[in-house]
Amino acid sequence: MYFPAYRPRRLRQNENFRRMIRETSLSIDDLIYPLFVTHGKGIKKEISSMPGNYHFSIDKLTEEVKKVRDLGIPGIILFGLPENKDEAASGAYDENGIVQEAVRAIKKSVPDILVITDVCLCEYMSHGHCGVVRDNEVLNDLTLQLLAKTALSHVEAGADMVAPSDMMDGRVSVIRATLDENGYQNIPIMSYAAKYASAFYGPFREAAESAPQFGDRRSYQMDSPNILESLREVMLDIEEGADIIMVKPALAYMDVIQFVKSETGYPIATYNVSGEFSMVKAASAKGWIDEKKVVMEILMGLKRAGADIILTYHAKDVANWLK
Ligand code: PBG
Repeated sequence: MYFPAYRPRRLRQNENFRRMIRETSLSIDDLIYPLFVTHGKGIKKEISSMPGNYHFSIDKLTEEVKKVRDLGIPGIILFGLPENKDEAASGAYDENGIVQEAVRAIKKSVPDILVITDVCLCEYMSHGHCGVVRDNEVLNDLTLQLLAKTALSHVEAGADMVAPSDMMDGRVSVIRATLDENGYQNIPIMSYAAKYASAFYGPFREAAESAPQFGDRRSYQMDSPNILESLREVMLDIEEGADIIMVKPALAYMDVIQFVKSETGYPIATYNVSGEFSMVKAASAKGWIDEKKVVMEILMGLKRAGADIILTYHAKDVANWLK
């Protein structure tokens, strides 16, 4: 290709030419909206570090889910804030737990939206870690059965898909086997496969009241400099029965999205996490950036990198903008 025979600007000169040769698209179909459900009644309380996102009690949550459905968003992912926490995370797999009750209520009043549940113990553990703790250590194998019980209880309540986010080794196979034994062969698993230990989860830990009370999550979540290891994590989860693979966070890990998409060909989800959302919100509140343009550019970038599905707190705004 040589100038002047090839002039890239020819096909950029107006919007119709640009539309015609656009390589990537972003659609409402690509979005999953995260929601936080809390105990109590009549509650809709804004999360201070995540403007426009709330803690909802179940009655208010169903109203919100209706709005999300009416916008055309195909799915939500639920996080629960239980009334009590303990060292066995018993609220996580209680058949009348916060997420289980919320799923039942949503399925009754808004049956036509996918209800995905985050499967993890950190919100239910008094110490805030994602697994069972003994002598300040997060124990892998003892945690697996609790995760499987949690996933099963979500599915029994009506969840359409489970999303384990705990990063214990082997959890996908234990969850898959437990669901299958109980007749739920057709419930897919979206695994947080390449989930990195990240400072971008800061606002979420306030939102989900799940900050670890000691230490950090670096002994189970991935180490940020590693990309080859992400493929090992992803292949393990695929072999264990994961249907959709997630990369998380999104923005600092777009190389990982592209890598695992091209290496596996699997459906790839990415989580545009709380800190990524809050940065955009804070800068736009100050008038430093154009929120709509920046959000659309970010999400298009994630699609271009290879993501098929984007979990994002911007989902409702984006759905409105795309309409
Ligand atoms: C639970 C979980 C976390 C997020 C999703 N599931 C927090 C963590 O691992 O500390 C983060 C989501 C976000 O930041 O938006 N383990």
